[in-house]
Amino acid sequence: MTTLGSVWPLFDLRLTTPRLELRPIRDEDIPAAVDAARSGIHEPGKSPFSTPWTEVPGEELGTNMARWYWRCRAECSPESWTLLLGIWHEGKFIGCQDVGAKEFALLKTVSTGSWLKQSVQGRGLGKEMRAAVVLWAFDWLGAEVAESEAAAWNEASLGVSRSLGYELNGTTRKAWGPQIETVQHVRLTPNTFKRPDWQLQVEGHEAAAKFLKVTDHEAGYGPSRRSASPTRAMRRSPSDRSGAPGGSGVPRVPRRACEPWEGTSALSDGEGPWPAERNHGPPATSA
Ligand SMILES: CC(C)(COP(=O)(O)OP(=O)(O)OC[C@H]1O[C@@H](n2cnc3c(N)ncnc32)[C@H](O)[C@@H]1OP(=O)(O)O)[C@@H](O)C(=O)NCCC(=O)NCCS
Repeated sequence: MTTLGSVWPLFDLRLTTPRLELRPIRDEDIPAAVDAARSGIHEPGKSPFSTPWTEVPGEELGTNMARWYWRCRAECSPESWTLLLGIWHEGKFIGCQDVGAKEFALLKTVSTGSWLKQSVQGRGLGKEMRAAVVLWAFDWLGAEVAESEAAAWNEASLGVSRSLGYELNGTTRKAWGPQIETVQHVRLTPNTFKRPDWQLQVEGHEAAAKFLKVTDHEAGYGPSRRSASPTRAMRRSPSDRSGAPGGSGVPRVPRRACEPWEGTSALSDGEGPWPAERNHGPPATSA
């Protein structure tokens, strides 16, 4: 029998961490995602997103979120993809962790974005879900770089990044609606990644990777293969780059996919140490 997963294999991907399950948001999950967002993600008037998608009237929020989930699916291709993974904790939907890439076959770079409902923030779950997608990207897809970005004041997001070993990668000045924001870019490689002490469980990887035309089997399926093969990128031949047939018609995919609107961004140069004041400090919100 034809299943939805056989038609759209990404739906069958499932990442499991000690406390969380991450899987692509299906239509039947959208109401729970909307409820989680409506319950509050941040302090009113202090949006951490480049577009204030959380600050619209309640009925528009749900419509916009649904539109966003459908759009990301519809525009998903090997050349440009975004996976919006719902986060389940103790059986309840609590947030979203996205991971996406453009020209992954060539660039081997993923970018991520995330949100959690406020009531569960500050318990290490944000770190756990980011670690999950980074582990999947590095160890299963063969990614070589994971990038992220956040408003320079977003201590929680930057706290997750710092805690996982991301390095600062410059700032850019952006218009977030009428606001000027300094956006901090961060970058992680397998060498700098501070791996968690747990192992990621992955189901449905092969079909998902095939769908995304990620054919780098040398990346291995699991941490041991990755660490045993650190120079894989140097050994790969151009013929392995099978993910971009034709290279044209690349659809637009927002960089910060946790947001139900499009954002644009370009990495800026420069690296530096984490500011001392970010290295310690309580979570912005408590559980
Ligand atoms: C960003 C977010 C996903 C982080 O998840 P979280 O569960 O709150 O964060 P965690 O509890 O996993 O914290 C991870 C690390 O960051 C640190 N941290 C968290 N909040 C912090 C804060 N306000 N100030 C300083 N450090 C903080 C923690 O101490 C922890 O570091 P450690 O591992 O060294 O102890 C969550 O706070 C959120 O959804 N915020 C609103 C939406 C948002 O900002 N999304 C990102 C847009 S770029």
